[in-house]
Amino acid sequence: MARITIPDILRKKEEGKKIIMLTAYDYPFAKIVDEAGMDIVLVGDSLGMVVQGRDTTLSVTMEEMLYHTRMVTSAVKNALVIADMPFLSNQMGVSETIKNAGRFLKEARAAGVKLEGGVMVADQIRALVRAEIPVMAHVGMTPQSIHRFGGYKVQGKEKRTALKILEDATAVEEAGAFAVVLEAVPMAVARSITGRLKIPTIGIGAGAHCDGQVLVLYDLLGLFEKFMPKFAKQYANLRTTASQAIRRYKEEVESGKFPTKDESYP
Ligand code: KIV
Repeated sequence: MARITIPDILRKKEEGKKIIMLTAYDYPFAKIVDEAGMDIVLVGDSLGMVVQGRDTTLSVTMEEMLYHTRMVTSAVKNALVIADMPFLSNQMGVSETIKNAGRFLKEARAAGVKLEGGVMVADQIRALVRAEIPVMAHVGMTPQSIHRFGGYKVQGKEKRTALKILEDATAVEEAGAFAVVLEAVPMAVARSITGRLKIPTIGIGAGAHCDGQVLVLYDLLGLFEKFMPKFAKQYANLRTTASQAIRRYKEEVESGKFPTKDESYP
């Protein structure tokens, strides 16, 4: 199977085919995600919460993102790999943004970066695109703005805030982003934005009318229970499966059932 490219992603919107994106943070899961046929694997800064156990994504560093992106690109053979720009890696001017984003392509072999924000990051997006660094934007409920929002709350419920999200989405398209994530916005708002933009919208908590969907892998697998938003559908409960396996191992060592001759060298 040929590797998925940005033109392939754009074509999917034109052809009315859904774009499927999922996060991954390490080699074994990235391999499973890629082999399941995802279009895009996102190394999300959500790893700050689901892997590192923090309450927000704000403490995630460039070095940590690069470390995880390298693991993911070692595994992924088909999907487009996009790496998240962590908090403050794109807020300190255009040249700092290009330097940081470029590291994901040069050192970690990602195909592009994702960054949060709309109108406020349009200059950075323009500069990245000029530097041949593909950008996925992210508007609506942007987790790096948690303190301004006062929590992980749905955005765009009132006309004024819905129009602001539309303005942000339009600004990132004009700046050259190849796609935009819409997070936690009412489905009617996401539908209207999706109809107005030429670039694909990828929704998370934004309803069925987006051009694609994204979920956090650990939510989908039931491995993260600290914070479970309404949109985070659990397709499995790996926490229970893992816990049962580990408890059985403990019991078998205690009872002498493990290891047997089969698990020992003669
Ligand atoms: O960090 C992340 O995983 C994300 C997705 C939820 C879109 O930004």
